Amino acid sequence: MSLTPALELKGVRKVYDVAGQEVVALDHADLVVGADEIVVLVGPSGSGKTTLCSIAGALLSASEGTVIVDGNDITSFNAKQLTTFRRNKVGFVFQTVNLVPFLTARENLLVVDELAGRSGNRKAALKRADQLLGELGLADRRNNLPSQLSGGQRQRVAIGRSLMNNPGLVMFDEPTSALDSKTGEHVVDLIHHEMKERGTAAIIVTHDTRITKFADRTVRIDDGVVST
Ligand SMILES: Nc1ncnc2c1ncn2[C@@H]1O[C@H](COP(=O)(O)OP(=O)(O)OP(=O)(O)O)[C@@H](O)[C@H]1O
Ligand SMILES: [Mg+2]
Repeated sequence: MSLTPALELKGVRKVYDVAGQEVVALDHADLVVGADEIVVLVGPSGSGKTTLCSIAGALLSASEGTVIVDGNDITSFNAKQLTTFRRNKVGFVFQTVNLVPFLTARENLLVVDELAGRSGNRKAALKRADQLLGELGLADRRNNLPSQLSGGQRQRVAIGRSLMNNPGLVMFDEPTSALDSKTGEHVVDLIHHEMKERGTAAIIVTHDTRITKFADRTVRIDDGVVST
């Protein structure tokens, strides 16, 4: 087990400029997530949860402060390094599932590998995609397009995609909020199982008590201020 934290945020600030007005979405946030720690992030709407996840995954840059992922200070990375980092080191499951509509479930997983430029090893990628789809209970749906899947199945494909590159850190932004309770339960079990099995760290934005129950810790955010 690695002792390097999966994530360290030090004095991270994010200020959006909206028509000349400054909106402070994150205010000097400090947060350390251990190598295999599962942290639940809670807070009111607009408090900065999605912003924090996006900064941790290098989808957004911080206005101030330091973001260290698995020992790498990503605030010092150039655009090319950031692209490689996003493709290889982190996973995302977004609030609204965003699968590529014209690709099948299996192709939605394979695309991660292609983007990472590892398509030389197509066989290994196929094996991994099929293994993940199997674990996610989607083996017999792998050739379905997203439009031919239920909401819960789509969310499971998104989880599979986020794990395709074997990330050390995965951000889940309200992974169960759009699911009925039974499908939600299945997705919760999957997240729990996949994270623990792989020793992957996670930040999960959720108020779902089924998730807070197995999380190592709950962190609160209010008006961009993180309190641990
Ligand atoms: N691209 C943007 N441009 C300007 N302001 C933004 C942008 N994205 C978010 N904000 C503002 O930053 C603040 C934090 O937004 P964020 O999306 O992180 O909140 P959240 O906690 O995820 O909310 P929710 O629970 O509703 O998803 C909000 O006040 C929001 O209006
Ligand atoms: Mg949000």
